[in-house]
Amino acid sequence: MLDKVEKIKKEIEESRATNSAELEAYRMRFISKKSVVAELFQNLKEVSPSERKKFGQLYNGVKILAQEKFKILINNLDSISTKNDQIDLDVTLPPITDNLGAIHPLSATRARIIQIFEQIGFNVSDGPEIEDDWHNFSALNFPENHPAREMQDTFFIEKDPDVLLRTHTSSVQVRVMEKSKPPIRTLSLGRVYRNEAISARAHCIFHQCEGLFIDKNVSFVDLKQTLYYFAKEMFSKDTKVRFRPSFFPFTEPSAEIDISCNICKGEGCNICKYTGWVEIAGSGMVDPNVLENCGIDSEEYTGFAFGMGIERIAQLKFQINDLRLYTENDVRFLKQFRTL
Ligand code: PHE
Repeated sequence: MLDKVEKIKKEIEESRATNSAELEAYRMRFISKKSVVAELFQNLKEVSPSERKKFGQLYNGVKILAQEKFKILINNLDSISTKNDQIDLDVTLPPITDNLGAIHPLSATRARIIQIFEQIGFNVSDGPEIEDDWHNFSALNFPENHPAREMQDTFFIEKDPDVLLRTHTSSVQVRVMEKSKPPIRTLSLGRVYRNEAISARAHCIFHQCEGLFIDKNVSFVDLKQTLYYFAKEMFSKDTKVRFRPSFFPFTEPSAEIDISCNICKGEGCNICKYTGWVEIAGSGMVDPNVLENCGIDSEEYTGFAFGMGIERIAQLKFQINDLRLYTENDVRFLKQFRTL
């Protein structure tokens, strides 16, 4: 019997565990209820009563030895695995950015437009998307029978008095003019709504950026210089700009602004319909009626305004041919803007 005990003790002392399977094997052999140590205690029954105490103490010694060794094996295994972890971990590797989101191209374009105009002193103003007739139409000199006031063009929420979804962010400019005094240099960006069938080229929801500058002696030259500056900053230094006479109820004179197509560099492509030019904005000198409607003395002050679609600017910047892509939220489209 004593021989057997000695053998078990030796075996315990020599045990090693370099992985969890070996540790478990040790546990089964020396710690569990079916272990060789537990078996020793079973034998106690056969030992004569006078010797039982002596053998009991001996077996207990083996049991404690087995448990102490088990603790050591567990500790050793822990330090082996942390050592391995340290070997696997290379802190100089670049982070894994696979799950990072991307900035939506419209948000990126919006942010860039703001940055460009902030550099020349414009602030950003905000206003409601649900508007009344006054701020969206009447204050802006729209005649009573103007087609934009029809259901086919505007989403009306209520009639008499009219409540509608704003069709342009010029409504925000009316609000700014009503509550502040010139000089005013402000940019209003946001969602606008028009009752259009959705296609690659038109959408019932889109985003506008409108600018307004009112002060003493503001002239058409200021308007031109401001938009030249914008086109060159937004696209490239060699972008050409041209003004075409146009009409808007709230500006006089009015002009539409084209830039040389930055996709084909003026050579002709399907974006510019092979003309080499793309329209980016409407603009003009604020009609004196509008200034008066908003409580600004039109004898003392003049101003210019312009308005452009953010989708159009993003289209030219990123060559996005279908307006619907902006709102479909297809991750294959969105992922491409990760590096912006
Ligand atoms: N508000 C006009 C539109 O939505 C754009 C515009 C703004 C034109 C300012 C001229 C001056 O089409």
